[in-house]
Amino acid sequence: MERKSEWFDELLAKTDIVKLISAYVPLKRKGATYWGCCPFHHEKTPSFSVNEQKQLYHCFGCGAGGNAVTFVKNIESVDSSQAVKILAKAAGMELPKENFFKDADPNLIKKRERLYSLMRDAARKYHSNLSDPRAKAANDYLARRGLDRGTVTKFGLGYSLDGRDVIEYLKKLGYTESEMKDAGIAENGEHGYYDVFYDRVIYPIINGFGEVVAFGGRTLKPDPGFAKYRNSTQTVIFDKSKTIYGINLLKKRKLKAPIEYIIMAEGYMDVISLHKAGFDTAVASMGTALTFNQAKQIRNYCDRVYISYDGDTAGQKATMRGLDILVQAGLNVKVVSLPDGLDPDDFIKKYGADGYEKLLEKAKSLPEFKIDKLRSGYNLDLPEEKSKFAVEAVRVVKELENPVEREEYLSLVHAYTNYPMDVLRKQADVTPVAERQPLETPPVAHGSGEKKAGTKDEKAALFVLACLAEDMDFVDWSEDFGALLTDEFYLTVADLLMSAKRDGKKNTGLLYDRIDEKYHGKLGQILSYNFMVGDNKEKYCDCINVLKISAVNREKERLNAKYKESKDFGIISEIAKLDEKLKTLKNGGDSNE
Ligand code: UTP
Ligand code: MN
Repeated sequence: MERKSEWFDELLAKTDIVKLISAYVPLKRKGATYWGCCPFHHEKTPSFSVNEQKQLYHCFGCGAGGNAVTFVKNIESVDSSQAVKILAKAAGMELPKENFFKDADPNLIKKRERLYSLMRDAARKYHSNLSDPRAKAANDYLARRGLDRGTVTKFGLGYSLDGRDVIEYLKKLGYTESEMKDAGIAENGEHGYYDVFYDRVIYPIINGFGEVVAFGGRTLKPDPGFAKYRNSTQTVIFDKSKTIYGINLLKKRKLKAPIEYIIMAEGYMDVISLHKAGFDTAVASMGTALTFNQAKQIRNYCDRVYISYDGDTAGQKATMRGLDILVQAGLNVKVVSLPDGLDPDDFIKKYGADGYEKLLEKAKSLPEFKIDKLRSGYNLDLPEEKSKFAVEAVRVVKELENPVEREEYLSLVHAYTNYPMDVLRKQADVTPVAERQPLETPPVAHGSGEKKAGTKDEKAALFVLACLAEDMDFVDWSEDFGALLTDEFYLTVADLLMSAKRDGKKNTGLLYDRIDEKYHGKLGQILSYNFMVGDNKEKYCDCINVLKISAVNREKERLNAKYKESKDFGIISEIAKLDEKLKTLKNGGDSNE
């Protein structure tokens, strides 16, 4: 146990949390603390703080907080073991042999590592297949689609020669067929295992850490009688709903220069074409409706996104929901209108990068896009249809938070329908803003955003523990804090702070790993307590007093109950002693006021 925690201490000591977080959130220094806009909830004024000395972060807005490990976990949507792996790599440390994370099954970690390695080897093989004479058809296809050698290499494209080739190759490297099945590249058929991507062009899907997690395979046939694309199934390293095609390139791109906007397309080929045309922040959503997780990941890179879906899908219901999710994640969304039947790849082939640039300039805001989409479904020359359209369009407007924006889009509906503005306003004002239901999960995905501590005792405990965490010089460390606190969580924190003090450890951020995640919000209130004038020794003593009085009262209650049962007069005198004690304590409390 001890060795593990030493390894952990070293990891956190070698990690510069300010540098780590700065890669995701622009931070400004104010005194000992760095401030920025919280990446875990939507805000315009910074309430997210990073404390360099304590090596921890805390958001005063949503309660999110923790150390470097918690940060990586939440921002990258990975579990502890993956977060630790990332940090260890950056710190140049070897991972410990044994696993010691609550939320990670050691077998699963081993399995994942094995599959990452298998997928990397498979991707290399598929890619090198392009030099095989048997890959002529694939090379012709790629050339026909305008992909030069550089692009093919950049995206790691490849080709599956036949049903057995990659399987034999991987077997030679020591992987079993059943592992290949678990990785989603082989299936067991009548004649044994076969490569599910055989005779397809391979698009590796790579996560933010450069690991190949899945493949998309495209048939070469112009008009297939079967699926055009075949994608990896869900595996222990691939969850479609959390994956973004091109995220690896986006991450690299961000290290070069700040990202101004992201282009979200639908298909692999769209991403490739966009990059080739110079739009090097294009990614794709894996061909399904966007999820909140994907939206959050996007927001780690910048807060402006252009949706560039195929002309005919952008108005579909599922897509619209995906777009609303982006807004809920705090993104500023614009929709690029492509002519029907064209996708970004087709469009760029036809009109070039300049043509596409113009489309970006003409992109519509989400409400405008929705209203225009609705409009195209009605014949506004017919009074009945016009009225239906207005009702629907006003419904879009009502979703908007901002009254100025609502007014702006009502004007648009007015321009289309000629209904007087006050009629439209009336229609829009049926539900006050405050009563509106959020559409999906609110953006605060973790951290309990604890409300202010409630009772007098709780407030006192919070302040006392904050003073311990800060190691204020007026703290009397010989105090029996265990006797003063009842709450399990407060007791654990006090214990950990006392043992940290004994060991001379300064890094209170370590506490995040010892305490259950559901308490991290509360823990943040203690570790990142905002000390102000008046938060002094007197207040500390008052708080200790409050806790002592409660402790004595609890003891009194216990004795009273005992007396009721036993009628032992000895207890009465004990109770009297407690009353004396209470009196002094209360005087002590009064004299300080
Ligand atoms: P598209 O049909 O628009 O394909 O599907 P595309 O990207 O334009 O590909 P090309 O130009 O025909 O080669 C968009 C995305 O939907 C998923 C893929 O991720 C694809 O890139 N898709 C599509 C599938 O998963 N399976 C399919 O059969 C079709
Ligand atoms: Mn296409």
